[in-house]
Amino acid sequence: MGHKVDDAALDALFRAARSFMKWQPRPVTDDTLRDLYELLKWAPTSANAAPARLAFLRSKEAKERLRPALAPLNVEKTMTAPVTVIVAYDLKFYEQLPKLFPHSPGMAKLFEGNPELTESTAKRNSSLQGAYLILAARALGLDCGPMSGFDNNKVDDEFFAAGKPCFGCDQEFFPEGHVKANFLCNLGYGDPSALHPRLPRLAFGEACSLL
Ligand SMILES: Cc1cc2nc3c(=O)[nH]c(=O)nc-3n(C[C@H](O)[C@H](O)[C@H](O)COP(=O)(O)O)c2cc1C
Repeated sequence: MGHKVDDAALDALFRAARSFMKWQPRPVTDDTLRDLYELLKWAPTSANAAPARLAFLRSKEAKERLRPALAPLNVEKTMTAPVTVIVAYDLKFYEQLPKLFPHSPGMAKLFEGNPELTESTAKRNSSLQGAYLILAARALGLDCGPMSGFDNNKVDDEFFAAGKPCFGCDQEFFPEGHVKANFLCNLGYGDPSALHPRLPRLAFGEACSLL
């Protein structure tokens, strides 16, 4: 703490990291996915509510369930990725607050009675957690391909609707259709041969003001 990480880490997390569309035939183990979660879970969310729910699709069967929801340009890169994670959010995240935010017993009630606040909190913080996932994946040597080109309703119906079985998770995360997809992210070891030249970014003065 208080120390800058070295240049190699900054390159791996930001400067040299890219969004990948093609993948090496190198698998991603379940242990690596557990390591990924064990890192990203520590990053901050409001009221420590951690509303993101992550569905890691690894099998061909799981990928086929996703296929009809994908925008045409995202099909090939997703079907060939070793893992696709659905970054979703739980609209009943506040039920976990007695455990996650125990010193403030009124917090769960605040969300329970205010669906607008609940939804904006779930969306904001699951987006943050999705970004933490990308950075944690890069820190573990993985590459990412985030995607918003998909049909949210189809994904929600297929994976998170009432009565759908929970797959690959230790607990009942998705029992009643209150989990909604935010974005998708392919994970694997990228094939750099398919990358296009890097796009420009806004300069400091275009995106930032010092007040
Ligand atoms: C939330 C989000 C959604 C995205 N959606 C798509 C998508 O649907 N399809 C796609 O090919 N790339 C998608 N991208 C990738 C971006 O186009 C890419 O990150 C951006 O052009 C920067 O590329 P670079 O990371 O290689 O520098 C998405 C990225 C993010 C963060």
